[in-house]
Amino acid sequence: MGERVGRFITVEGPDGAGKSTLARAIAEQIEAAGESVVLTREPGDSPIGAAVRALLLDGDDLDRWTEAFLFLADRREHCLHVIRPALLAGKWVVCDRFADSTVAYQGYGAGLDVSELRSMNELATAGLRPDATILLDLDPQVALQRLSDKNRLDRMPLDYHERVREGFLTESRLDPDRWIVLDASRPPEEVRADALRLLAERFAFPVILSPGGDPA
Ligand code: TYD
Repeated sequence: MGERVGRFITVEGPDGAGKSTLARAIAEQIEAAGESVVLTREPGDSPIGAAVRALLLDGDDLDRWTEAFLFLADRREHCLHVIRPALLAGKWVVCDRFADSTVAYQGYGAGLDVSELRSMNELATAGLRPDATILLDLDPQVALQRLSDKNRLDRMPLDYHERVREGFLTESRLDPDRWIVLDASRPPEEVRADALRLLAERFAFPVILSPGGDPA
């Protein structure tokens, strides 16, 4: 994908850390800087993805590899039909969860082979990698407490979520140029201000903050 023009930013971390709100704030900020943005998420932002999402989040227990294949199939469709075309058209893409979620949840969390999952991600994404990934790092106990509507994966035991957290942190250390790790136990406006400032520095777009720390 050497010819792409837009930038690709992903947001990772546990449910309950504020990923979706932050992804929206990032997209708004990039738009305010005069760029076109596509705000999207996984699983679920393609026609196939919606079906996969229903199966994954509400279905009975699935075999771990079956589950991984569903996330990967969703990712393949999402990359082909949403993310790649947007980047090629010069748009920025902000995605709430991406390939690192599969490595963290199905790999570190559920115990599937991490290097095999990495190779499968390469296939699913056709080599498309984020330019920057924000990790909202949060103690799983705090994250779970913040959730009112728990899905099947959220109801997994605490040690699973602890392995997922460590997995994200391990991945971030392997590729520090791509990852921006933020302590998400702080007030959301502080986390957001940090995220916007660090992204603005990295990509040289202006960041406009109101006195309260909210994007203007
Ligand atoms: P998410 O959309 O963030 O949750 P919600 O519907 O509550 O907003 O993600 C749903 C769940 O899917 C989440 O618990 C993490 C999990 N997940 C994986 O296990 N592997 C993956 O590759 C992805 C993308 C998500």
